[in-house]
Amino acid sequence: MTIHYGGVHHLALVCRDMEKTVDFYTNILGMKLVKGFDLAHGSGQHFFFDMGGGNLMAFFWFTDAGDAAPGIASVGDLIGKGSITSAHGSMNHVAFHASADEIEGFREELMEKGVECSELVNHADVLTVPGKNRTSEDVDDTTWVRSFYFLDPDGIMLEFCADISPGSDEISLPVNDKGVKADGRGLDSLHA
Ligand SMILES: [Fe+2]
Repeated sequence: MTIHYGGVHHLALVCRDMEKTVDFYTNILGMKLVKGFDLAHGSGQHFFFDMGGGNLMAFFWFTDAGDAAPGIASVGDLIGKGSITSAHGSMNHVAFHASADEIEGFREELMEKGVECSELVNHADVLTVPGKNRTSEDVDDTTWVRSFYFLDPDGIMLEFCADISPGSDEISLPVNDKGVKADGRGLDSLHA
């Protein structure tokens, strides 16, 4: 049978304090808590929030989870404040849909609720400054998506992202583990 996709059923993350996580995702972000139960054998809890579009955001609380590991298991810091690099196999960030009309209002609402947010970033579909930037000051004809970022109570980076234009259909050749493409070149931004 041909495999086909119908979106994300749930994405499962791990928190340190389920009370704080429930407060953040419901009272600050406004998601509905749709399920929550204790795991068998006293090993923890599993809670699910509705992130719209038929998709659920899930959290585990484990009795034996290790401490957060910024820069390894999650981003080092919020975009604009520090490195967003995380380790191989990590979950770097989750982006929720917003419309282009709503995204500024969403950011203001979160900041009014005390959430530190990045600036709005206009992600261009080209290098706007050769060798340097893929962003632009304002939305313009290079803009693919527009977004902003913030952290949840465990330092999990979240994003609201608005589609602006379909952009280019050009796709870079993927690099291998040495950062080299099949045509022998490195990253385009190194060849300005
Ligand atoms: Fe993203």
